[in-house]
Amino acid sequence: MDKLRIVGGGKLKGEIRISGAKNSALPAMAACLLTADEVLLTNIPFVADIRTTRRLLVELGVQVEFEDGHAVRAKAERIRSHEAPYELVKTMRASVLALGPLLARTGKARVSLPGGCAIGARPINLHLKGFEKLGARVKTEYGYVEAEGKTLTGATIVFDKITVTGTENLMMAAVLAKGTTTLDNAACEPEVVDLAELLTKMGAKIAGAGTPTITIEGVSKLHGATHAIIPDRIETGTFLIAGAITGGELELTACNPGHLTSVIDKLGEVGVPIETGADTLRVKGGSPLIASDVITREYPGFATDMQAQYMALMTQAKGIAVINENIFENRFMHASELMRMGANIRIEGARAIVAGKVRLTGANVIASDLRASASLVLAGLVAEGETVVDRIYHLDRGYERIEEKLQSVGAQIERVK
Ligand code: EPZ
Repeated sequence: MDKLRIVGGGKLKGEIRISGAKNSALPAMAACLLTADEVLLTNIPFVADIRTTRRLLVELGVQVEFEDGHAVRAKAERIRSHEAPYELVKTMRASVLALGPLLARTGKARVSLPGGCAIGARPINLHLKGFEKLGARVKTEYGYVEAEGKTLTGATIVFDKITVTGTENLMMAAVLAKGTTTLDNAACEPEVVDLAELLTKMGAKIAGAGTPTITIEGVSKLHGATHAIIPDRIETGTFLIAGAITGGELELTACNPGHLTSVIDKLGEVGVPIETGADTLRVKGGSPLIASDVITREYPGFATDMQAQYMALMTQAKGIAVINENIFENRFMHASELMRMGANIRIEGARAIVAGKVRLTGANVIASDLRASASLVLAGLVAEGETVVDRIYHLDRGYERIEEKLQSVGAQIERVK
């Protein structure tokens, strides 16, 4: 398994181009199942989860070409299989996003139930409840969920809890249903809006994406389209913190500042000045960091996918910061690894109390999930000496060539095969 070796202490300086959003590209690729025509997706991040999604689509009978420059050309002329197998789903739970489009297009879907993951139990009960509201028969047995419904019928679905992929799955199921579907208490994430834009280009009738109430008027058929995936706001936030934690100066390009308001505001409170351009952000570290509490919330609140990176930053801030993880029940796995590097953190249920500023020293650490691995890389950039991050396959799932991007702005980081 690859590892990353980092020697800390350098101030990062320079420009980094942000990649397309993993959490937008995954549902967009699933949406290709909804039409027999060709769909061209550009600004795709070539990360491991995208390759897994390609394997899943090919397994279902879709022709999928990766083209240079981060594009995917997909054509689901004929769907050969309705099954997303365990072997694929166990590596990437987002495979459940095949459920909605398969059900809508073919009236049948069989998907391995994604088990829990490092950050929480993560059930999909709200997805399944929604499909039943649209008239599908849903059963779970032998580790698989089977959904059947020749004709789905529009309905009002009120989510008990805000769910991002739940909203995306139901949106994709409803676009070909008879009549109108209303999704209430829907997720407002930019990735949901991006999917709605793609579906609309494919001929769907959707209103209200980005608000808690989304209305979908079913149509009989969808057609092909070309769509550019939005920039990755979590990758952007991660590099903002890389600039702040190393006291460096970074220009981030091809990003969307409007998707990061809560992160930019929070970094402002911490004492990190950020200049905003139309599609650029400039972070200038170096001023003393001041501890500030944070609560993770659904969009537009502070993203749970930024919590681990923020914790690393708080180890270098003066004072006590209380971090409340409000979305996932087990998302502090990185804390114990940061403590091995010298951080002073106490976990009390859904709260982490971080006392800073401390001297971090390099160590061998293990990544437990995607964003936890990013926080260990950030800590390694400021730690004295050498840090070796193991199990970076987690990192590769969602960050495109992160060590090359960091090397290009002066980080001493290398991949150890
Ligand atoms: C999406 O996961 C993202 N993944 C996650 O990013 C992100 O952390 C999460 O949204 C929250 O923002 C993708 O988009 C592929 P949820 P998702 O359904 O959709 C509970 C990353 O690092 N819930 O919004 O799976 C659930 O357990 C990843 O890139 C139910 O109880 O998250 C959680 O507590 C990690 N029943 C909460 O809702 C359901 O049926 C929010 O989960 C669905 C969800």
